[in-house]
Amino acid sequence: MNWTDPLDEMLRCRLETGRKTVTPCSLIIFGASGDLTMRKLIPALYHLFHDQQLPSRFRIVGVARREKTAESFRAELRAALDRYSRTQPVDDAVWERFAANVSYCQGDLTDPATYGRLQTRLAEGDDAALRQNLLFYLAVSPSHFAGVAEQLHTAGLLGKNEEKGWQRLVVEKPYGHDLSSAQALTRTLTQFAYERQIFRIDHYLGKETVQNLLMFRFANAIFERLWNRDVIEHVQITVSEAAGVGSRGGYYEEAGTLRDMVQNHLLQLLALVAMEPPVSLEAEAVRDQKVQLLKSIRPFTPETVARQVVRGQYTAGGGNGQPLPGYRQEPIVRPDSNVETYVALNLFIDNWRWAGVPFYLRTGKRLPRSASEVRVTFRRTPDVLFAAQCGADLDANALILRLQPDEGITLRFNGKVPGTNLIVSPVRMDFGYRAEFGAYTPEAYERLLLDALAGDATLFIRQDEVETAWRLVDAIRVAWDGQPLQAHEFYPAGSWGPAAADALLTRRGHHWKKPQANGQATHETIG
Ligand code: BG6
Repeated sequence: MNWTDPLDEMLRCRLETGRKTVTPCSLIIFGASGDLTMRKLIPALYHLFHDQQLPSRFRIVGVARREKTAESFRAELRAALDRYSRTQPVDDAVWERFAANVSYCQGDLTDPATYGRLQTRLAEGDDAALRQNLLFYLAVSPSHFAGVAEQLHTAGLLGKNEEKGWQRLVVEKPYGHDLSSAQALTRTLTQFAYERQIFRIDHYLGKETVQNLLMFRFANAIFERLWNRDVIEHVQITVSEAAGVGSRGGYYEEAGTLRDMVQNHLLQLLALVAMEPPVSLEAEAVRDQKVQLLKSIRPFTPETVARQVVRGQYTAGGGNGQPLPGYRQEPIVRPDSNVETYVALNLFIDNWRWAGVPFYLRTGKRLPRSASEVRVTFRRTPDVLFAAQCGADLDANALILRLQPDEGITLRFNGKVPGTNLIVSPVRMDFGYRAEFGAYTPEAYERLLLDALAGDATLFIRQDEVETAWRLVDAIRVAWDGQPLQAHEFYPAGSWGPAAADALLTRRGHHWKKPQANGQATHETIG
């Protein structure tokens, strides 16, 4: 069953806020030889250029330690683009025009001379906009964030002087490793730039399906009035990943899943699903409501962590018949590591809308499939008529927002199976992005880079947001500190995590629903 006929072009409403005005500017990427630049940033910039979304005059300067020429840097970027571009093959003519704006500045991040060279480079040319409008992208290890900002400031490239052009700082995650380090980082960065010049990235917010959470809730009349404790029984948010930690063992040993995924991506998803309607689509209005929601989450105590939070770490196992190493066998991981690669938790939002509704969040590495979804389960019908006869076999209505892959939305409800016998069966109404809008899906970084260039902070994390999220997860971290993982907290690679995660739900009569598999044609077995 299809949700609608194909959309009527005439009914499309182009929002004013959807049009980005980007002034001519320079984008300076620190960490220009790194993975993020190669895999995400350059492909995103190339596509923005291809789609004529970048300003008519712009330049990109890559900064990294290794010695190389502009030509060899461009050749590396081209090789990466051939590999990671979402459209293939790369258009040579478009690439040539794009690459003409790209240059390279060699230097160590801790060496003031690097910033002197960068300053000279940026002062070149007689285009004042390119000299004065500067977006600095920190695609480097977090230990360098503060140092780079300070050096940029000392070199006169970043400051609170907003009279001549604009300067912005894009900061990748992780933003701190707990509340106090995040606060300290903000204190340092705001010595050199205003909070409004700081763009903290959470790439989940750049995903189309995640942005659509707001449209879904606030551009439709039918769902929002059901979006509360009277109608909703519980909410599940799953972000599962089939991949293991692989070569990121060094980072993961410091981070763990709580910091890597829950503090940012999962809490951001939760905020968008559960927040109150903002008064406008302006950045501050949206972010105010997200913060408000995060502040309404009941704080964890050591007792509630023990009861409501489950952690796990994968052991060697087999996915699709392939032997997979355990986390402790991954490169650079301590052989007795207690770092978690899985977290499931049950939280409550103490506000008027959600009081008493359980929210279940889970995420982990080396789970059976990569898939993310939000599942809203509605309260059951009263125990009369069909419910009286079918009991627990009568499916609860559910709305499934499939974030990735196979992006779309499914509404599950009960219907009569045709025939002379009275058989009730769950059926679904389905909206799929691909069927409705075709295969075009911009990468999260395209949207985020464009927004940062345009100065739109809506999809970036504000200081109070990041701090509220840290406050929540720090309480969990503290409860875990000094507690080695117990035998029941390990799960074989390729399984759905420790059994205790199921018990989080079953004690309230709920069950985790498996998200859809990558590339799987059908959505969910009905019945
Ligand atoms: C990153 C985490 O932020 O998000 C990774 O550091 C994780 O550990 C990744 O794999 C998941 O992102 P996506 O877009 O692939 O779901």
